[in-house]
Amino acid sequence: MKHTITLIPGDGIGPEVTNAVVKILETAGLQVDWDLHAAGVLAVEQHGDPLPSALIDSIIRNKVALKGPVTTPVGGGFTSVNVGLRKALGLYANLRPVWNIPSVPSRYSGVDLVIVRENTEDLYSGLEHEVVPGVVEGLKIITEEASERIATFAFEYARKHGRKRVTAIHKANIMKMADGLFLRSVQKIASRYPEITCDERIVDAVCMHLVLNPTQFDVLLLPNLYGDIVSDLCAGLVGGLGVVGAANLGTDIGVFEAVHGSAPDIAGKNLANPTALLLSAVLMLRHIGEGEMASRIMTALGNVLSEGKVRTRDLGGTAGTREFGDAVCGKLEIGPFGSR
Ligand code: NAI
Repeated sequence: MKHTITLIPGDGIGPEVTNAVVKILETAGLQVDWDLHAAGVLAVEQHGDPLPSALIDSIIRNKVALKGPVTTPVGGGFTSVNVGLRKALGLYANLRPVWNIPSVPSRYSGVDLVIVRENTEDLYSGLEHEVVPGVVEGLKIITEEASERIATFAFEYARKHGRKRVTAIHKANIMKMADGLFLRSVQKIASRYPEITCDERIVDAVCMHLVLNPTQFDVLLLPNLYGDIVSDLCAGLVGGLGVVGAANLGTDIGVFEAVHGSAPDIAGKNLANPTALLLSAVLMLRHIGEGEMASRIMTALGNVLSEGKVRTRDLGGTAGTREFGDAVCGKLEIGPFGSR
């Protein structure tokens, strides 16, 4: 089947990692028309808008997008393209599976957890104002509707993927109303899934427990801000931002993106590791019904990494983005089928 997928290369290292991943997908046999769109700085240059309506329309039409990182100006300029996309498309769930890819050096082994992060509200609602000079107020929005929606997503995911436990993470001891509402909403939804254990932890304690023993966790369910922070902590448990994929999902739309940023320090130097975007693309393949192709790519990636001859600099090697991508393509041309 031929797919039409919106492709947003992004900026910084985005175009480099996107090129490598597109080549791998096409070598694996993906029949695809890429619907190419700029976002962020490049879109401002081309269309005067960091998030052009043609891009939004393309994703609504195609229902699926593969996205490279986009630079967000700090302390001014346009608001985050990533936050804007999530709002415009109703991408309420951020899904980040975190597990040890064989042969990737990391501090822990046996990690296999999934982060489900609420994507649309909390302190990321962008509601900030100056009360008087020197005093700024930022609003934390938590609604029952969004909390129940993300909880339902997490429990449905757990049921579908044979996961046994969902841990709700909060700070309801301090933010009694906002996080209290989140926690109560999760507990209400949990009662509909008696086969799945639901427990709860305070966010600071969970960070300590993740560092002490990450293998004890299964599905972690968090509001937006804690989710953002804990997701990067978890990436660090298995080797860093270069080896973790993610999906932003709405009711019928999926945007699949690497979790790292545009890495201006190494942009344009053929140094970036395309693995994270490739892992997101693998999630995308499963989402569009190309599970067998996803498994073949995972096997090819695993073979390249375990041989250890071709590795990017962040994983202790000397290979460039293109060389690493080509090595995965080489394994796809000859490699056996895999299962993950
Ligand atoms: P970053 O993730 O771009 O870089 C952090 C460090 O990790 C840098 O040393 C970088 O060289 C390294 N790194 C990142 N990705 C890598 C890869 N694939 N291979 C090898 N090394 C890699 O984070 P930073 O510097 O905080 O953000 C840079 C820009 O990216 C900012 O404008 C930020 O807003 C944006 N950003 C965009 C995201 C997105 O589009 N989804 C996500 C996170 C940040």
